[in-house]
Parts: sequence; C-alpha cells; structure tokens
Amino acid sequence: MTVSDALKARISTRAFLDTPVSQDDIADILDAAKFAASGGNLQPWKVHVVAGEARQRVIDAVSEKLAKDPFGNEADFLVYPEKLWDPYRTRRYEVGEDMYALMGVPREDKGARLNWLLQNYQFFGAPVGLFFAIDERMNNNQWAHLGMFMMCVALAAQDKGLATCMQEAWTPHAKTVAKALGLDAPYIVYCGMALGHADPDAKVNQLRTKRAELGEFARFDGF
Ligand SMILES: Cc1cc2nc3c(=O)[nH]c(=O)nc-3n(C[C@H](O)[C@H](O)[C@H](O)COP(=O)(O)O)c2cc1C
Repeated sequence: MTVSDALKARISTRAFLDTPVSQDDIADILDAAKFAASGGNLQPWKVHVVAGEARQRVIDAVSEKLAKDPFGNEADFLVYPEKLWDPYRTRRYEVGEDMYALMGVPREDKGARLNWLLQNYQFFGAPVGLFFAIDERMNNNQWAHLGMFMMCVALAAQDKGLATCMQEAWTPHAKTVAKALGLDAPYIVYCGMALGHADPDAKVNQLRTKRAELGEFARFDGF
C-alpha cells in the first residue's frame, strides 16, 4: 500500500468486530509511527494502549463519571471554540447529519443520537484503545506534533489492514481516563483512538466524508 493509498483509504471507523489485535501488531504500528517528524526531534508523545481488562477499566471509570457528571469538562482546554464560525460550523454539522442519515436516525430522535455518541465510550466495539498524552508543560507547537504522530499511527494501522477512529470524545473525561490508566502528572491525556478490524456490514462504516477543494485551502504562488 502506498502512502497515498493509505491516506485515501483511512476513514474514521465507528463499528468494529471483536476480533482481537495482537500486542505485536500494535508494537509494529507504533514502531513505524515513531518516525513521525517533530520539531527539535522532541518526540513529545506518550501513548498508552489498552486491551482486555485494562480497556474495560477505562470504560467503567468513564461510564461512572458520565452517570454522575455527563457534561463536566476535565480538560484544561475546549475541544472546539465555544462558537464555531463558517465554514467550520457547517462542516461539523454536515458530518454529523450525513452520519445519522446513513443510519436512518432522524434529528428529532435525540435519544438514539445520544446512544450513538455514547458508543465512543465503548471504543465503538474495538478491542484496542489508545490514549495519546503529552507533558502539560509543552506548548501549542508540540501539541501539533503529537497530532502528526497520531496520524502516522492511523496510517500505519491502515497499512496493516486495521481500522481506527480518533476519539476526542474522551478528552472531557481526561482526568478520569488518566487515573484509570495510572498515568501521572505531568502527562495529560489529549485524545483517544479506537483500533481494530472494521465491521464490514455496519452501515456507519460506509460514511465517506467530504473535503474542501484544493483551491479553498491551498494557494500556489510563483509557479
Ligand atoms: C483529533 C480527532 C478527534 C476525533 N474525535 C472523534 C470522536 O471523538 N468521535 C468520532 O466519532 N469521531 C472523531 N473524529 C473523527 C472525525 O469526525 C473525522 O476524522 C472527520 O469527520 C473526517 O472523517 P474521516 O476520518 O472518516 O475521513 C476525530 C478526528 C480527529 C482528527
């Protein structure tokens, strides 16, 4: 698989088979992803991989937190700006609507939509969860490099025939997740990722998101 093929084939998978993924496979993926570039070669990432009981411990801890305090944000930052503006607002709206339309969940059915969101906290059924953490003393610059590492993980997984979904849904519960993982300061959890074998029969996995045309985000000068 070429890198371009992997880039085009990767999607956010939101329904997984329970087929296990071996620790060796995950180690191979991370061993490839570690070649991600980072400013000053700081490699400012930590990744905590959970399966089996460890995965269940995170799920249970966050379920308990959700039951007590569903909207409490434990992260020191907002996942999105408080009020998004266009074109970002429309893009965010569209991806949700396209996904629910595919699954036949109407806008009025708030219960079904909420239940769907809660699937995040089961890793969408994936047998493996990854949590990406960063030393809280790092700046915006290093956070960007952590993101590049995450993308490399997703592409390396794709190359192995595995599927992923990045999950900032865990971010508001970052402290609960960190405690369940045994992750100590100065590391803070930024984002999760579900990883496993995609369920080929799940409708939600048919979603193909749109992208802005090149001319909307790139400018060429001097050619
Ligand atoms: C950092 C990051 C966090 C994300 N968090 C979630 C999430 O919590 N739940 C979810 O269903 N999708 C999540 N997504 C997936 C995005 O919605 C998805 O990448 C976007 O709609 C483009 O679709 P594609 O990944 O299928 O190309 C996340 C993506 C990124 C990059």
